[in-house]
Amino acid sequence: MAEKIIKKDSGLYENPAILEKKIWQMLENATRDRTSECRTPVFICGSKNQFDGRTVVLRAANGAENFLQFHADYRSSKIKTIQENDQAVFVFYDRSEKIQLRIKTKCQVHHKNDISRESWLKTQHISRKCYLAESAPGTALGQPGTGLPEKYESFQYSQEESELGFENFCVFRCYVLTIEWLYLSAKGHRRAKLDYENPDVKFTWLTP
Ligand SMILES: Cc1cc2nc3c(=O)[nH]c(=O)nc-3n(C[C@H](O)[C@H](O)[C@H](O)COP(=O)(O)O)c2cc1C
Repeated sequence: MAEKIIKKDSGLYENPAILEKKIWQMLENATRDRTSECRTPVFICGSKNQFDGRTVVLRAANGAENFLQFHADYRSSKIKTIQENDQAVFVFYDRSEKIQLRIKTKCQVHHKNDISRESWLKTQHISRKCYLAESAPGTALGQPGTGLPEKYESFQYSQEESELGFENFCVFRCYVLTIEWLYLSAKGHRRAKLDYENPDVKFTWLTP
């Protein structure tokens, strides 16, 4: 694949405002475009000396309010982890853009409230299956399996039965604290940090 070179006059190389706009465009686009490489970041959280990462699907990116969202099963152990330490990191790599984003966030878990209801109403019938397993994600099984009751395996459930999944459904809303942007180029790498903890986003160029 031919390398995409960011032209110096595109502004990305020297203009913080253009760079920030581009980052949020990439994130917002990933929530709509199933083929975007930013659609499935790794989400890392932990407490004490126990840290873990997993792939998630980016469901919302709000550049006006500076948050990212994904969906999860409320019974997952990452809920307890976030309750102990609400700071977590998303790592994205878009190979076609040659851009890595490391985004530090402060997370809220929304369960059985207006925010989770709004997202639940947008889920497709087939996706609701993910929230209908009888036991929590990570529970030991005596044999290989999905953990789903048989009729859910074959999508033989009504709209009303799918509503049971709402009990297990939650939304992670993660407010951005910092974004570290890294752009790889044969012409010279670029790295920058955007700090959202200041009222005016503080921008710093870094040695790559
Ligand atoms: C492509 C892909 C997308 C995934 N999306 C999600 C997601 O949006 N939310 C989620 O909780 N798990 C998602 N998973 C599963 C997680 O990576 C992980 O296996 C699961 O959440 C259980 O781990 P945990 O409970 O320890 O976090 C996805 C996995 C893959 C491979």
